[in-house]
Amino acid sequence: MNRPFVSINMISSVDGKITSASGESPYFGSHEDRLRLHALRSTACAILVGANTIRCENPPMHPRDSTKHPWHIVMSRLGQLDPHARIFTEGTPAKRIIVTAHTAVEPGIPMTEHWPLGDDLPLLLKRLYAEGVRHLLVEGGGEINAAFFAQDLVDELYLTLAPTLLGGSHSPTIMGGTGLTLATRIALQLVHAERVENELFCRYRIVHEL
Ligand SMILES: NC(=O)c1ccc[n+]([C@@H]2O[C@H](COP(=O)([O-])OP(=O)(O)OC[C@H]3O[C@@H](n4cnc5c(N)ncnc54)[C@H](OP(=O)(O)O)[C@@H]3O)[C@@H](O)[C@H]2O)c1
Repeated sequence: MNRPFVSINMISSVDGKITSASGESPYFGSHEDRLRLHALRSTACAILVGANTIRCENPPMHPRDSTKHPWHIVMSRLGQLDPHARIFTEGTPAKRIIVTAHTAVEPGIPMTEHWPLGDDLPLLLKRLYAEGVRHLLVEGGGEINAAFFAQDLVDELYLTLAPTLLGGSHSPTIMGGTGLTLATRIALQLVHAERVENELFCRYRIVHEL
């Protein structure tokens, strides 16, 4: 496999929603979930996130372990991002990369590299691999996840099921996009499940060939 191993980490409500219908995104996981996320981040060479997640949630993306410096990668077709977003200003990643369509990036963003690769995820993974990235952690949101899943570029999914319902017909789920058919659906193998109090921590392997 001449691409990085790709993990996706998400938390969803029991009805599969990753944020509330109004789009507000106060984090709805527990302290335990946070600890696990940070442990996973510490194993990654690079952490990738979609532009909309930065706009809606503005999460810090670095691991708590200050000896680890995974790259920060933001995917934004338009390249219009807030230069003060936490992903650009917090932590000490070895690189901060913006991947865009073939456009310029908003001036003033403190990135170290601009990769205008468009939607070519295989090319992105090939380049990351060539530069030494062996484990890529994707942290959403639903549209970015869908793009990786649709091209069969995901190897494992960490999913926390939070003991809550959020509802909302149009609220995003862990996988957006146009959706798959029953014939093209992605098969998952549950390799680990652990209950901690009311939360369920699941790890699935993606079955690449049915
Ligand atoms: N519960 C969780 O674990 C979790 C995790 C992450 C996010 N979230 C929530 O998810 C929501 C955001 O998710 P989202 O699905 O709306 O957006 P998203 O996946 O975070 O970002 C989508 C954006 O990524 C850019 N992009 C670049 N290449 C793309 C490609 N090939 N396919 C799709 N997008 C591409 C585009 O940015 P431009 O518009 O700049 O062109 C697009 O608008 C927020 O509410 C956030 O809080 C929840």
